[in-house]
Amino acid sequence: MKEKRTGFTTRMGAIAATVGSAVGLGNIWRFPYQAGENGGGAYILVYLICILLLGVPIIMSEFIIGRSTHKSMKGAIEELTPGSPFKLFAYVGVFGAVLICGYYSVVCGWVIEYLWTSADGTLLGHTPEQYSSIFTNFIGSPQRCVIWTILFMVLNFLVLSRGIKNGIERIANIMMPLLFVLLIVFCVNSLMLPGSSKGMEFLFNVDFGNLGWEGVVDAMGQAFMSLSLGVTCLITYSSYFNDDSKLMKDAVTISALDTLVAILSGIVIFPAVFSFGLEPGAGPKLIFEILPTIFQQMPGGTIWAVLFFVLLFFASITSTISLSEIPITFLIDEYKISRGKALIITAVLMTAIAVVSALSFSVLSDVKLLDRNIFDFLDYVGPNFFMLLGGLVTAIYVGWILNKDVVHDQLTNGGMHRSRFVQPYIIFCLRYIAPIAIILIFLYYVGVI
Ligand code: TRP
Repeated sequence: MKEKRTGFTTRMGAIAATVGSAVGLGNIWRFPYQAGENGGGAYILVYLICILLLGVPIIMSEFIIGRSTHKSMKGAIEELTPGSPFKLFAYVGVFGAVLICGYYSVVCGWVIEYLWTSADGTLLGHTPEQYSSIFTNFIGSPQRCVIWTILFMVLNFLVLSRGIKNGIERIANIMMPLLFVLLIVFCVNSLMLPGSSKGMEFLFNVDFGNLGWEGVVDAMGQAFMSLSLGVTCLITYSSYFNDDSKLMKDAVTISALDTLVAILSGIVIFPAVFSFGLEPGAGPKLIFEILPTIFQQMPGGTIWAVLFFVLLFFASITSTISLSEIPITFLIDEYKISRGKALIITAVLMTAIAVVSALSFSVLSDVKLLDRNIFDFLDYVGPNFFMLLGGLVTAIYVGWILNKDVVHDQLTNGGMHRSRFVQPYIIFCLRYIAPIAIILIFLYYVGVI
C-alpha cells in the first residue's frame, strides 16, 4: 500500500500554494525589467505564446509525474518507468533550484530593505534620479544586503519548518488575494498619471524591430521562471495534490493568474516610467527606482509603500518556500531523513549561496562568470539554462516515454472526465513544439544559429 503523504487539505489550498509559487518577484520585478530591456510589446507577445505552447503543457507534464506517484522526481520516474536514466535529471532540478533560490533571496532582501525604509520614513521624499543612486548605494553596501538576505532566509525556513499544511497553505491563502487587490489599485493610479498612454503603448504596441533573438530567449526563460517550471518544483507540489484535483483546469487557472499578475505589474510600472521620464531599459533596478516615485505622488504614500512591500514580501516568500521545498522533499524521499534534518541541510546550503550572491555588487563585484557578476550570472543560467533543460527533459519524458495510459488517467482522473482535445494538444506540444523550441535556443547559445 502506498504511504499516505500529508498534503494540501483543499483544492483551493493546493491552487493557492501553487499560484503562490508561480507569482513572485518573477512577475513583479523580473517581468517588467525584461520587457523594458527588450522593447515592450513584441517581447510580451512572444512571452504569451510561450505560456500557451510551452508553459501549460510543461506544467501538465510535471503535474502528471508528481500526482500519479505522489513522489518527487527521482522516485516518481523509478516508479513509472523502472530503470529509466531520466531519473538522474532530478539532481539537475534540485541543483538548479538551490542556485535559483540563492540569487532570488537576495532580491527578497532588497524588498525587506525597501519595506524597512518605507516604514521609517526615509525612503520617500527624493527625486527619481536620487532613487537610482539610493538603490546603487544600497546594493553596494555589503552589511545591509547580507543581513537582510539572512533574515529573509531565516523567515523562509521558519515557515517551512511548520510543514506543508500549516505553513505554506495558510500563508498563500491569505496573501495572494490581497496582492491582486493592491495591484489593481496601483494600476488605476498609474493609468491616471499624465502621459501614461505612452507606457501603455510601449507595453502593448507590438514592434518586432525592437526584439532580437536575445529577447526571444529571455521571453522563453521568463515564461519558465514565472511558472516555476523545469526544476521539479511542480512535480514536488503536485506530489502533495489530492487525487481528485483536476490537473488541466488547475494548470490553466495557475497560468492565467500568473500571467495576469505579470501584465498588471507592467501596467503599474510602465505608464509611470514614461510619465516621470525614466528609462524603461534600466534592468534589475527598474522597480526599485520607479516604485518609490509612484508612491510618492499618491496621497498617503508611506502607507501605500509599506503595504506594497509587505505584499511583495509575501509573494516572494511563497516562491522561495516552493524553491526550498524541492531539495527538502528530495532529501526526505531519497535519503529517508527527517524533515527537520532535510530542512537544516537545505537552509545552510541555500543561505551560503545567497550570502555570496548578496555580495556581488560590493566585495565580490570583480568576480565574473560569463562576463557577469555572480548575481547576474545566476539570474541568467537559472532560467535560461537549468529551467529550460529541465523543461526539455520533462517534455520528452511525458511526450515520448511515459505510458499514455498514465497521461490519460491523470488528465481524466481515471476516466471521470473527458479530455478529447486536451490530451492531443498537450502531447503534441510536449513531443514537438517544446523540444524543438528549447533545442533551437540551446543551438543559439552555442552559436550554431
Ligand atoms: N515563479 C516564481 C516567480 O515568478 C519563482 C519560482 C518559485 C521558481 N519557485 C520556482 C522558479 C521554482 C523556478 C522554479 O517569482
